[in-house]
Amino acid sequence: MWDEPLDEARRFADRWLAGLGERPVGRPVADTAMRARIDDRLPDAGAPAESVLAELAAALEPGLVASAGPRYFGFVTGGALPVALGADWMVAAADQNVAVRVMSPAMAAIEDVTAGWVLDLLGLPAEAAVGFVTGAQMATVSGLAAARHALLAAEGWDVGADGLAGAPVPTVLVGAHAHATVLQALRLLGFGADRAVRVPADDQGRMRPDVLRDLLAAIDGPVLVCAQAGQVDTGASDPLDAVADVVGERSRAWLHVDGAFGLWAAAAPARRHLVTGVERADSWAVDAHKWLNVPYDGAMAVVRDPAALAAAFSSTAAYITMGADDPSGRVPESSRRARALPVHAALRHLGRSGVADLVERCCVLARQAADELGRHPGIAILNDVELNQVLVAPRDVDAGVLARAIAEDGTCWAGTSVWHGRSVVRLSVSNWSTTPEDITRSTAAITALVDRLSR
Ligand SMILES: Cc1ncc(COP(=O)(O)O)c(C=O)c1O
Repeated sequence: MWDEPLDEARRFADRWLAGLGERPVGRPVADTAMRARIDDRLPDAGAPAESVLAELAAALEPGLVASAGPRYFGFVTGGALPVALGADWMVAAADQNVAVRVMSPAMAAIEDVTAGWVLDLLGLPAEAAVGFVTGAQMATVSGLAAARHALLAAEGWDVGADGLAGAPVPTVLVGAHAHATVLQALRLLGFGADRAVRVPADDQGRMRPDVLRDLLAAIDGPVLVCAQAGQVDTGASDPLDAVADVVGERSRAWLHVDGAFGLWAAAAPARRHLVTGVERADSWAVDAHKWLNVPYDGAMAVVRDPAALAAAFSSTAAYITMGADDPSGRVPESSRRARALPVHAALRHLGRSGVADLVERCCVLARQAADELGRHPGIAILNDVELNQVLVAPRDVDAGVLARAIAEDGTCWAGTSVWHGRSVVRLSVSNWSTTPEDITRSTAAITALVDRLSR
């Protein structure tokens, strides 16, 4: 019963993983062409499990992107460490629900232990609560939901019971280069993205604490400040110690840090200085599926005051109580897969030193890419490459045209962005398996395309 479908899945995995390093990384495929490959008639009669999987594997093949491979530099994308992929298969096989402890004492215990390891590794307060969520998006929603509860409770307002209408709503301040998911969280939680005060930033996208101080001086009432570790384009982190100083000068204030990928700098001794002071915040969002290289989806919402997170998410019904001590008392979801297991397996496999090496290696490779590309007369590197992000501005070629040509070429894959009004090709080096040779192969392909397109 199990053998045939699982053998078929294993054959797919073997083929896919063996080709990951050499297949064209992400050649464009038209949506219509992809849809045409997928039989869209809902069958009346079923089909054997193994043939369903074999047919799907064949149909999907041209539209799969080697984003877990060593030369994918799009967005901020990690691959999957073999140990984390294996753990993810175990998660699927065991099919545990980590809503309440009694549903899976094993996976609840894994969450507890892994939470402690994550706090230790990232230098965050040992007493903080950790919720295992789908991504930094939901981690920020969780952190800001806890903030909303705590800040309003301090004003004598129970937002869970009474909602936001008529509430003494905190003023939200975000950096000028905050990630789109922070604004999305503000929309979802009823703060309103456009009502947030934008704090100007420096040329690398770091929030300016001097201006933050001036802005706060003019605001009465509770405030919620959203800072970040790792700006999505430049990789720069806000000066978190100085930001924490400014926020700490007032009572009725909450500091959240979006550290989707940049918070991992805290785990690498040579990069830790980039996030000095990060531990002084009240809540943090950090992804595991980016720099820790676990499969999608996995991230952590961390909140200093466990009671604030529990107040935001605990719920009860006659047949079930989800309390602060239950995993779902720390996340927005109810039923949930055991996504802490791949994180746990990755950390157990790498150890403290292995995580530090992974982070440091990616930073060194990003520097290598910037140096190799920056030597080309037709290319300017626009950011200070201190972390894993590289902004590549071609002088005589449109960045969008170059990115499309890179995708067609297939050696590597990179996305685009706009930085200070200039279109750029954007590289993020976040994969455990990328080597110096992968970087040189990719930069050679990119510079050859710049030459060809500049003619
Ligand atoms: C700074 C930052 N915050 C949040 C996110 C969103 O992460 P996710 O897609 O895992 O929710 C990203 C993704 O790149 C990011 O770079």
